Amino acid sequence: MSQDLTEYRKDEYKKVKIPFGFNEQLQKVSLSLFHTFFVAMTGHGKTLGMKSLLLRFRELFPDWKVLIIDSKDKRDYADLNADIPLCFVEATDPLDLKNLMEPIVGAKMMYYFDKIIEEATFDTLGEIQRNIHKKVVDADEGRIKIHGKELGKLRVLDFTLAKLVALIEKPNIISELKLQDGFNVMPVSLPDVKNPNLKRAFQQLIARSTLLLLLSNPLYERTLLVLDENHKWNPQRYSSICKQPLSEFISEGRSQDKIVWLSDQALTKIDKEALKNVKIWIVGQQMEDNEIEDARNTVNSITDLSVTNKEIKTLKIGNFILVDGLHRTVEKVYLQPYGTPDEITQQIAKGADPELAEPYIREFEYKLRKSMEVDEDLVYKEICEKLRREREEMLDTIKDLKENFEKRVKEVREKAFQEAMAKVEEIKKEWKIEEYQITIVELKDKCANLETIVKKAQEDLAVLDEIKQVMGKLFPTVQAVSVPTEAMPIMPSITVAEVDERITQRLSSGPSPVTMVTVDVDQRIKELVKNEIINRIVTKIRALPESAKKAAWWLHEKRQANIRALYNYMFDRPPDETGRIPGTFYMNVVNPLQDAWLIVNEGGNIHWSLQEKLQAELKEVLTNSDLEKVPKYLASLLL
Ligand SMILES: Nc1ncnc2c1ncn2[C@@H]1O[C@H](COP(=O)(O)OP(=O)(O)OP(=O)(O)O)[C@@H](O)[C@H]1O
Ligand SMILES: [Mg+2]
Repeated sequence: MSQDLTEYRKDEYKKVKIPFGFNEQLQKVSLSLFHTFFVAMTGHGKTLGMKSLLLRFRELFPDWKVLIIDSKDKRDYADLNADIPLCFVEATDPLDLKNLMEPIVGAKMMYYFDKIIEEATFDTLGEIQRNIHKKVVDADEGRIKIHGKELGKLRVLDFTLAKLVALIEKPNIISELKLQDGFNVMPVSLPDVKNPNLKRAFQQLIARSTLLLLLSNPLYERTLLVLDENHKWNPQRYSSICKQPLSEFISEGRSQDKIVWLSDQALTKIDKEALKNVKIWIVGQQMEDNEIEDARNTVNSITDLSVTNKEIKTLKIGNFILVDGLHRTVEKVYLQPYGTPDEITQQIAKGADPELAEPYIREFEYKLRKSMEVDEDLVYKEICEKLRREREEMLDTIKDLKENFEKRVKEVREKAFQEAMAKVEEIKKEWKIEEYQITIVELKDKCANLETIVKKAQEDLAVLDEIKQVMGKLFPTVQAVSVPTEAMPIMPSITVAEVDERITQRLSSGPSPVTMVTVDVDQRIKELVKNEIINRIVTKIRALPESAKKAAWWLHEKRQANIRALYNYMFDRPPDETGRIPGTFYMNVVNPLQDAWLIVNEGGNIHWSLQEKLQAELKEVLTNSDLEKVPKYLASLLL
């Protein structure tokens, strides 16, 4: 709807009337939009008439809100499917408190009023009740002294209020009024509350809160309030906390475009004072004399036109006397049920049986129910959608939690790992594990050395065997020349002098005379040994790995160095670098060089030893000139 039209409606609604039905002259009759009272005995058609009018009203005034307080045990407006939360405003004024408690106890509370004034010093009913309860308990348990009569009064207040507070302090009761466009139904029927007096007091609290909030908030301009069961809010003989707000709503509401439609079965139990400003009355049938009288008097006092008792008593279902105090008109009108065709309505207005409308009424009720079913589907869809969203949010939350959890686990793990490592370090320090590790490495190196030595000794043994064979050939008579293996120490080398000595020993202890021994034997042996040993060295030098040759050449130049320096040189490391020298370095470089007599390793210090070794080992067999040439020749093999 455009703004202009809304403005037009705002100004013009007072002139716009809601189609009501047909009069006996078959003329269309409309209802002015003012505060209105529906009164008719049970079953006369108030609820159906009200619903029909409300549906037509909504079509005519879509920018108005409709708020219905649905208070009957068997709900009248559930089929509109527009329930909203109950609203509640605290009522802690002593007079309100007294009026609130009267329907609960079903009697006047004047006797208790002094105590109520004394106790009504908190902002909420809950606090007031809890404070009274505490006093009662304290007095009962002897902590404080309260006079018997006073304590009795407190007990009554505590008992009465406790029940009410239990109803108020429920999560579905909110402190504000939330109105949607179109219909809003506040269900205060409370089928679960069995005590009717308590239920009445609670319903009054809700109705009062609604009236106060509706009237005080400019947001709720253009609202039509529907308040059934008027005797509940506005009883004739009892005080009620709703009376005052209702009266105010009726007198002030219209200027703010806030209208109330009231209804009830009878007028005798209703306080007429608040209804003085209700100028439109829709009066249906009454059977009881007092009721007829009351209805007639009320109607006549408004219009000064006379409606007779008989007219009220003989009204048929759905037929009402429509009294318009503003236009001073009174006429008998048949209220057209929503969806009933004009012709049928006119027939009934002329006097036909209202039964004629039944099929249309059923269809209308069916359609309402059906629309509720459709709406229910929508509601379920909405619920489904809401649940789906909640599920997605939950999944997101779970994902976040999982991520956080995993992150946390990782952190904890890392922390634990760090701590464990620190602990290991500590233990290492304490137990000097690194020292053990170094020792193990050294032992491994030594083991490798020993293996090399053993190997070499075995080779030396083989040489000795060869010598033995040669000797056998040279001196076939010397059968006993044998060198038992176990007699040979496992040594890296054996000197020629030793061999000589042993041979001489054997020869001298042999059985046969050995005259020819003096022949140049010594020289020949020497030649043999020299060639054999030098050949072996040549073979070994040739077989050296390239890395060992490189190391040998460097050492040949340097003449001496320690193993660390050699290692750093070989692997292009800074000369001062420290750290473990791997066993493979010994195996592939140091040991083969030693084996080839090129170097001697003395506790990590290496020196070029070829010459010295040759001299030491072969001094018997090498001439001075040999001693000069042979090392050069052997060194040249490294190139
Ligand atoms: N205008 C009408 N024309 C024909 N039949 C009607 C009309 N209004 C109501 N009725 C019939 O009367 C029955 C009762 O009507 P309704 O429930 O509106 O009465 P009521 O006045 O609200 O009664 P109560 O005071 O007990 O709530 C309806 O179910 C319907 O069958
Ligand atoms: Mg009804």
